[in-house]
Amino acid sequence: MRARVLSGMRPTGALHLGHYHGALKNWVRLQHEYDCFFLVADWHAMTTHYEDRAGLEKSVYDMVVDWLAAGLDPDLCTLFIQSRLPEHAELFALLAMGTPLGWLERVPTYKDQIEHLKDRDLATYGFLGYPLLQAADILIYRAAWVPVGEDQDAHVELTREVARRFNHLYGRGEQVLLPPQALHTAVTRLPGLDGRKMSKSYDNAIEMREAPAQVEAKIRRMPTDPQRVRRSDPGEPARCPVWPLHEVYTDAATRQWAADGCRSAGIGCLDCKQPVVDAVLKEQQPWRERAEAWLSNPKQVHWIVEMGTERARTVARQTMKDVREAMGLVY
Ligand code: TRP
Ligand code: SF4
Repeated sequence: MRARVLSGMRPTGALHLGHYHGALKNWVRLQHEYDCFFLVADWHAMTTHYEDRAGLEKSVYDMVVDWLAAGLDPDLCTLFIQSRLPEHAELFALLAMGTPLGWLERVPTYKDQIEHLKDRDLATYGFLGYPLLQAADILIYRAAWVPVGEDQDAHVELTREVARRFNHLYGRGEQVLLPPQALHTAVTRLPGLDGRKMSKSYDNAIEMREAPAQVEAKIRRMPTDPQRVRRSDPGEPARCPVWPLHEVYTDAATRQWAADGCRSAGIGCLDCKQPVVDAVLKEQQPWRERAEAWLSNPKQVHWIVEMGTERARTVARQTMKDVREAMGLVY
């Protein structure tokens, strides 16, 4: 039997190249080697955007279409929506009983995010519980591996502690819940158009299915080495936000040409950007083609998610039976 992997994303709408290179590309690879479960973490989205009911449905399906466009294959992996499975809420509630408050207050993302999202009131019970809800997502499938970025390591660590504590309190020598491990495979951090982290909220992202003309315009407008003011000024790739895109998208010979041309002022910045533009458009082409089929057949997308949800439910139900029994709740 293949080892189980579980991961998830909050539905933030159409995904961008940062999501693809930082996570999704890896998921597509993993689906061939592991029994993969990928969930749309819509309740997690609500921990920060609890008043925003209008955009959620569209965000969920835009994201699922991007998953399918990237190459996730519903015959190979299980795709589902967290909120369709009240079992997650039940496990979250039961784990909450014995989880020390300090464990949650200590998670670094807790204070970071409150600091980061100052315009929102995050002094809520749900937001404090974010990593425990994530622990429930993972533990309910008895996943061995959780592919996540390093920013989520503390959440996987908390999940391990929660599982160990549960087994200690209720397991009577048995391992009811399986402490998972973070799965760090080589991922590519792709910065945004301004050199900061690519993020919709920074307005520096290229969407996976963004129109070609717009992709081209965005890259052509990208800032470059600030010391290269005129075409005749020599530049330095190490100072240029375009360079990380070359590192992801172009081959060694092209990079050599670009670096030499930059340092000697032999090429202009638009010349330098062109191979990046071409490579991004080429990468996006199959996504656009696959997405077209899904977009013209939204019922099919819903059906895929429903099938995945039912598959997930079978596993979640079994775990909850064991959990209730271990906790002495079967009467
Ligand atoms: N917190 C994760 C993120 O922001 C999303 C998530 C929710 C998740 N549940 C999960 C990731 C379970 C891994 C496993 O990216
Ligand atoms: Fe950046 Fe290329 Fe211009 Fe050099 S030539 S500054 S690497 S865009």
